[in-house]
Amino acid sequence: MRADELRDMYLKFFEGHGHSIITGSSLIPQNDPTVLFTTAGMHPLVPYLLGEPHPAGKRLCDCQKCIRTGDIDDVGDASHLTFFEMLGNWSLGDYFKEDAIAMSFEFLTKYLGFSAEKLSVTVFAGNESVPMDKESVGIWNKLGIPESRIYPLPMKDNWWGPAGTTGPCGPDTEMFIDTGKQACGPNCRPGCSCGKFFEIWNDVFMQYEKTKDGTYIPLKQHNVDTGMGVERTIAMLQGRANVYETELFAPVIQLLEETSGKTMFADDETIRAFRVISDHLRSSVFILGDQHGVSPSNLGQGYVLRRLIRRAVRYGKKLGLGVGFSKPIASCIIDSYKHVYPELNTNRDRILMDLVGEEEKFEATLDRGMGELDKVLTQITAHGQTVLSGRVAFRLYDTCGFPLEFTEEICRERGVTIDRKGFDEAFEKHKEVSKQGADKVFKGGLADHSETTTRLHTATHLLHKSLQIVLGDHVKQKGSNITAERLRFDFSHLAKMTDAEIKKVEELVNDAIQRKMEVTMETMTLEDAQKAGSTALFAGKYGEQVKVYTIGDFSKEVCGGPHVKNTFELGKFKIKKEEASSAGVRRIRAVLEG
Ligand code: ALA
Repeated sequence: MRADELRDMYLKFFEGHGHSIITGSSLIPQNDPTVLFTTAGMHPLVPYLLGEPHPAGKRLCDCQKCIRTGDIDDVGDASHLTFFEMLGNWSLGDYFKEDAIAMSFEFLTKYLGFSAEKLSVTVFAGNESVPMDKESVGIWNKLGIPESRIYPLPMKDNWWGPAGTTGPCGPDTEMFIDTGKQACGPNCRPGCSCGKFFEIWNDVFMQYEKTKDGTYIPLKQHNVDTGMGVERTIAMLQGRANVYETELFAPVIQLLEETSGKTMFADDETIRAFRVISDHLRSSVFILGDQHGVSPSNLGQGYVLRRLIRRAVRYGKKLGLGVGFSKPIASCIIDSYKHVYPELNTNRDRILMDLVGEEEKFEATLDRGMGELDKVLTQITAHGQTVLSGRVAFRLYDTCGFPLEFTEEICRERGVTIDRKGFDEAFEKHKEVSKQGADKVFKGGLADHSETTTRLHTATHLLHKSLQIVLGDHVKQKGSNITAERLRFDFSHLAKMTDAEIKKVEELVNDAIQRKMEVTMETMTLEDAQKAGSTALFAGKYGEQVKVYTIGDFSKEVCGGPHVKNTFELGKFKIKKEEASSAGVRRIRAVLEG
């Protein structure tokens, strides 16, 4: 079975079991300052898992694009990917363990045709605050899975979430397919990295909320959140030992073989290079081509993207590929996915331009680093020394973006070694400092729906409309990010705004606030919302139920919320900064005072 059939069959199966098929979200979370990327299907659904009613009902399913870069160093093995597609089904306070597990079992065995004998599962073993999940053991038993293939595991293995630092979470039961490989030892079990057991699906019983002080409080609503990895599942269905041997990667691998003149299976290092390049460029294409796509930069999502591209280029160099090699590969990736993710095709030109641009920048960086390193090495060797200080190696790495392995290689050629201990110390110190910076990103807590962010969210709608009034209808939202302190709004517009335009926009927003307008919400189909003149960010599925927020006679937008009840709750609106964000996109930072 191919990925196309799997997506289709999964969604139809759950639709047949009373679920509404919803459209997957952007890879860049909107209005959630706590995480850089959408890491799971549940992520855009956090408010609904916490109790807000979803317009499409209590049973949902979708296919969600996800990025996870936490395991970036594991990429190159059989199963780790930085981009993947997650099929998911949700119960928002509707069915719970019994039905969730029964549906998973039915889909795996009857629809996908996995034999029940090949299935092993794990359950939560319990800890001092939450008891062992005996109920799931009983349900699996009843379905015919013997206790010998049900593994109770601790919190670090069998508890999922929250996606950020706070939010919904709970014990889970994970489903593994036995690949038939020899067990690596007597302790080999699902979760073992030897590759015998391949995890393909996870049912999470989201009945807790992790709060800011680190405690777990029971949720009023008992939810189910599941996630099935598309790449892993089709690999198992196609009898492949790893995710790269399916139709999702085959065209890219073939192209890489043609352009490099090497065969993937030449040796372990070549296998790894092929895998890293295919994975990282696929993630980069999806980040660049997202409906809220970003460009490479030194900050946030742009920085992760930069690292992915540069890492792909480094491995490309190992295969002897020259500058610009990413272009035909990216094009090939777009072609294999455009029927499922049309945004990739729409953004094709920009994706290719940004990729090649970043390749060229990296090349220049490498040239600079090479010059610096050459100078230092000449000095060292002139003094008869043979060790490069860790501090210098780190400076090359940190400020010149010069990869350590390049430094090592060049040093080796000149008979010099690197003080690794010094490098590691400098690296640790740097990590500590950047971690402090990253922690600030998490200050708001997951999906911070505090009063302040809610007010800023409503202000964002007023700003959007005011910009359209002042600058013209071409103004479209390109991105929105809200923290407890400020809102940040990206929109399409070519020129820098004049002072007069900024003042006019502020006046319009403040006037709308002063008019004490009511904010109301209605649920309707996307078509009706568009007919009613609502601003909708991107197309969803035909007939999909959406929420429309109306602010008096001023603005109408399709949006998940939440919002204030009346604009007078907002106080005074002030634009702090107007600047370029990327080509043709301006960025405004604004606050609410008092
Ligand atoms: N949210 C769960 C996961 O990502 C389903 O595994």
